[in-house]
Amino acid sequence: MKFFLDTAIIDEIKRADDWGLLDGVTTNPTLVAKTGKPFLKVAEEIIDLLGPERPVSLEVVATDYEGMVRQARELAKLGPNVAVKIPMTPEGIKAVKTLSEEGIKTNVTLVFSPAQALLAAKAGATFVSPFVGRLDDISMEGMKLIEEVVTIYAHYGFETEVIVASVRHPEHVRQAALLGADIVTLPFAVLEKLFKHPLTDLGLDRFLRDWNSLPEDFKPDFLR
Ligand code: G3P
Repeated sequence: MKFFLDTAIIDEIKRADDWGLLDGVTTNPTLVAKTGKPFLKVAEEIIDLLGPERPVSLEVVATDYEGMVRQARELAKLGPNVAVKIPMTPEGIKAVKTLSEEGIKTNVTLVFSPAQALLAAKAGATFVSPFVGRLDDISMEGMKLIEEVVTIYAHYGFETEVIVASVRHPEHVRQAALLGADIVTLPFAVLEKLFKHPLTDLGLDRFLRDWNSLPEDFKPDFLR
């Protein structure tokens, strides 16, 4: 399972990368706006940090077919690792078809139903982003959507990779992994929480306390 970071904050990306856990980055206009920096500065810095292989999703803001295709072509020029985020609309799906024929990577975003995910795959999307947290927020079952999309894609052998998006907590990650989703895109705070378990902290304290109770000459130099 690949871990993407759902952020435009450079420091968070650097920290996840330092842990060796970063397979890609997703952004959206809200996340870029939160940085308070110019779009191109943020985008170029992320693309540079991730290198040529790991995908960086950058979103178009046009909503008409011509505008989306024009903006996507410009975004794709920023780096070989750019995947252009396109909203799940009829015009968007038409744009995905055109862009996939041109070899431009796409990520269909704002997906809330299995039927929408099916359309994205049929159009040749590289990635599809079903939003689980926002469905949970309106008392629907976000992870049910992931289960159905993963099942549908397996039936037909679609190569579109499923990015579990709008992730709110580690439980979403556990469920996504059990369902075999290709990718989770995580807010940095959720990635940090994945490390945590109270028994890990308690156990480590106990091990070190017991070790420190040994006489010093019982311990080899390299374990002092
Ligand atoms: O980037 C798409 C998605 O992950 C947004 O999540 O938390 O705004 O619902 P959220």
